[in-house]
Amino acid sequence: MSRLPDEPRPAGALWTDRFAQRTERANSSVIREFLKLLDDPAIISFAGGLPAPEVFPAEEVLFATHRVLRQHRDSALQYGATEGYRPLRELLVRHMARYGIEVGPENVLVTTGAQQALDLVGKAFINPGDRVATEEPTYLGALQAFSTYEAHYVTVPVDDDGMCVDRLEDVLRAAPKFVYVLPNFQNPSGVTLSLARRRRLVEVCARYGTPIVEDDPYGQLRYDGEHLPSLVKLDAERSGCAHRERSLRGGVIYLGTLSKTLAPGLRVGWVVAPAEVVAKLAVLKQGADLHSSTFAQMVAYETARGGFLDRHVKTIRRVYAERRDAMLRALDRHAPAGVHWTRPQGGLFLYLTLPPGVSADVVLKDALAAKVACIPGSAFHPLGGGTRSMRLNFSYSRPDVIEEGIARLGAVLRRHVSEAQAPQAPPAAVAAG
Ligand SMILES: Cc1ncc(COP(=O)(O)O)c(C=O)c1O
Repeated sequence: MSRLPDEPRPAGALWTDRFAQRTERANSSVIREFLKLLDDPAIISFAGGLPAPEVFPAEEVLFATHRVLRQHRDSALQYGATEGYRPLRELLVRHMARYGIEVGPENVLVTTGAQQALDLVGKAFINPGDRVATEEPTYLGALQAFSTYEAHYVTVPVDDDGMCVDRLEDVLRAAPKFVYVLPNFQNPSGVTLSLARRRRLVEVCARYGTPIVEDDPYGQLRYDGEHLPSLVKLDAERSGCAHRERSLRGGVIYLGTLSKTLAPGLRVGWVVAPAEVVAKLAVLKQGADLHSSTFAQMVAYETARGGFLDRHVKTIRRVYAERRDAMLRALDRHAPAGVHWTRPQGGLFLYLTLPPGVSADVVLKDALAAKVACIPGSAFHPLGGGTRSMRLNFSYSRPDVIEEGIARLGAVLRRHVSEAQAPQAPPAAVAAG
């Protein structure tokens, strides 16, 4: 029915009518919606990717803040360089070198969290309709960032050893702009890309001339086993690089963050890329926020320096390993046969797969009624699917809370799994007419 001329229009209609086409695919993330549930204290949430507040280095941040304001007040409160606070970039360079990534500060751009780095990568490389290759499932925030630039997705499945690299060539033939991959304790599945597959991934991508974006927020949070070399390092080793950019043959852009090793509220992440790419990303960043908060970068630097970051990572590993173990033990106790889950060697998440006939959406609705929240796996599948899976975060809740939450979830799962397995009642006999 057409609108009468004097009928009031909804506030905002003048703007909503003018939303750009690219916003059509920009929807609020399921995770953001679930995070609102944290306002209800009765809900046990395994939904967000939240670090444990108990390990936030609040005292150290307090001292660092005092130091910054006492010693660098004018520069801390002033505009700063887009590339980032130089001492922080140098600290990040030293920190990465301990994990085998050897680059110079000119290869580092500080960003407002790794999330901004994903957005800048999208802005710099994706034209509308370009293909991006991802794992399936993959990080929802990356899909949000890339979809804004109207990416189309081609996907490679994930198993217990990470991306199934033997399936990659088919995808590379579709000429994606880049491959986006999470080699360590993948979000959402918790699995880690094996060394053999890392080498093969780098080799196959080099052969097809396809670059890789390596997103690595969790690499330092390993609880068992040996650290595996990053893709950026393996890429450099393939061809033996010149001294200054030893870890940069240029096939891989690497993303890091202090969100999981210090605190996400600082919003400090970074990109490692060849200097020409850093320069382009910096120009694009200027359009977004001029630079990341000088104050936050200086506080992050003052907190992290003098070996604190490395010491603190050890504390986090101990606390999260305990929580991961608590969740695995609780699942062993409470989950019914037929439900499977990953056993991550690090990171923040594990991934549950339900037996055929059981829908994660239905389970999660009932779980919410029982006051426990998780994220449906379908959120992480860019092409649809994942309807029998769900992501569980183990870093945020204390072990006793984890036990209680998994007991509640287990009760819901047992009900749904036994209903799905119950023999179907024969159809009612139709009376002969
Ligand atoms: C895989 C992955 N990439 C990027 C991010 C964004 O992190 P940041 O807090 O640094 O923006 C996250 C956050 O959970 C993540 O899991």
